[in-house]
Amino acid sequence: MRTPVIAGNWKMNGSSEMARDLCGQLTDKLIQAGETARNIDIVVCPPAILLHPVSDAIAGSPIQSGSQDIDQNTSGAYTGQTAASMVVDAGAKYTLVGHSERRTIFGETDEMVAAKTTTALEHNLTPIICIGETQQEREADQTEDVVKRQVLAIVENCGISALHHAILAYEPVWAIGTGLTASPEQAQQVHQFIRQQLAANDSAIAEGCRILYGGSMKPENASDLLAQDDIDGGLIGGASLNSTDFFAICAAAIQQAA
Ligand code: PGA
Repeated sequence: MRTPVIAGNWKMNGSSEMARDLCGQLTDKLIQAGETARNIDIVVCPPAILLHPVSDAIAGSPIQSGSQDIDQNTSGAYTGQTAASMVVDAGAKYTLVGHSERRTIFGETDEMVAAKTTTALEHNLTPIICIGETQQEREADQTEDVVKRQVLAIVENCGISALHHAILAYEPVWAIGTGLTASPEQAQQVHQFIRQQLAANDSAIAEGCRILYGGSMKPENASDLLAQDDIDGGLIGGASLNSTDFFAICAAAIQQAA
């Protein structure tokens, strides 16, 4: 049984006040939900500058924090960048790597994503590695080719054992922030394909690796997506900015885990 993960990606949103309010409200709801809330992993990924207030707000709660990115280098002359050691220092246990916005807006390549994965693991941060096809690639029937290339870049550059500690997030780019969601069957098909790619390298790692779905996951569709065999949680953008919605998605995962 893979422990479900619900991770919130705040993107470039929030403030220290919001960090306190949202995490405080979420903590209260999770405490009311009781011990079962401990059956899933809950992560909030604020902008790096808000990791400290988030850490303060989640102290003693089942929530953990993650950054949205790290630099692949450990320190030095990289103006504006944030090192893995710094996000660890601010309390983070996870980091997103290779989010589609990083890949498309900031030109991150498969090799950079692999380098960041290695750096994260070296700092005991759990990388949540984002992969997924664009609308154009889906229409050209290239979904499997694209996710296979993205997964193999990790396997070849980091070694399959990296996937023993890492989490994958399948996020079809056409579903991110658009309100369009992959149907549970569409998502399951790709998740199963991703797991098969891992299994071709190591069946135990494939069986244990958590693969999250991301792309307009919300309270209304979370249960159906999370019920799929190969969907082990969600990476939530817009709906993670509202404690009621984010908690409702956590509650759906808690129910599945029961
Ligand atoms: P969304 O974003 O839930 O707003 O579609 C998901 C993501 O980008 O991680």
